[in-house]
Amino acid sequence: MTRLSLWQGDITTLEVDAIVNAANESLLGGGGVDGAIHRAAGPELLAHCRTLGGCPTGQARLTPGFRLPAKWIVHTVGPIWRGGGHGEAELLASCYRESLALAVQQGARRVAFPAISCGVYGYPLVEAARIAVDTVRAWCREHPGLDEVIFVCFGDTICQAYRQILAED
Ligand code: APR
Repeated sequence: MTRLSLWQGDITTLEVDAIVNAANESLLGGGGVDGAIHRAAGPELLAHCRTLGGCPTGQARLTPGFRLPAKWIVHTVGPIWRGGGHGEAELLASCYRESLALAVQQGARRVAFPAISCGVYGYPLVEAARIAVDTVRAWCREHPGLDEVIFVCFGDTICQAYRQILAED
């Protein structure tokens, strides 16, 4: 059974097989965790991303980790929160499923996720954390092979949300 764990800190410092980036559809960098990952991975990441031709919301693309301790980066594009009536929940769940599928395809055993869409994209934290945990748990039941999925939280509020949800089951 895949272990689901929680870790508070900067995802760019994690020495895991793959970290997931909360990117935008251009894949050309931005603020938040996207900015942090590009800064830590170095300029080769942007050069590589330019060759990918972007990524639609809900999908994921893989790149090497370059100067990061992580081997791979899975870039996924979360939905922008627009009130909940535009398929946001399904798109967010798709980000987690598509990212796990790509990482496992590369043979990853440990994968770390930030709280996708919970910053600039404005997704309500508790709902997003619930979708993250439920989707990852369901996917891992269907696809054994991952040792650990780490939910990385940067702020206390999101950490509380994940802690509460992970403790429930
Ligand atoms: N490590 C881990 N988590 C982080 C880090 C970090 N170094 N920096 C920020 N976070 C957290 C934020 O606190 C938030 O909880 O990642 C979560 C996602 O927030 P954003 O990075 O703003 O991502 P998102 O809400 O998905 O918005 C994506 O923001 O940076 C741009 O280019 C990106 O346009 C895209 C949009």
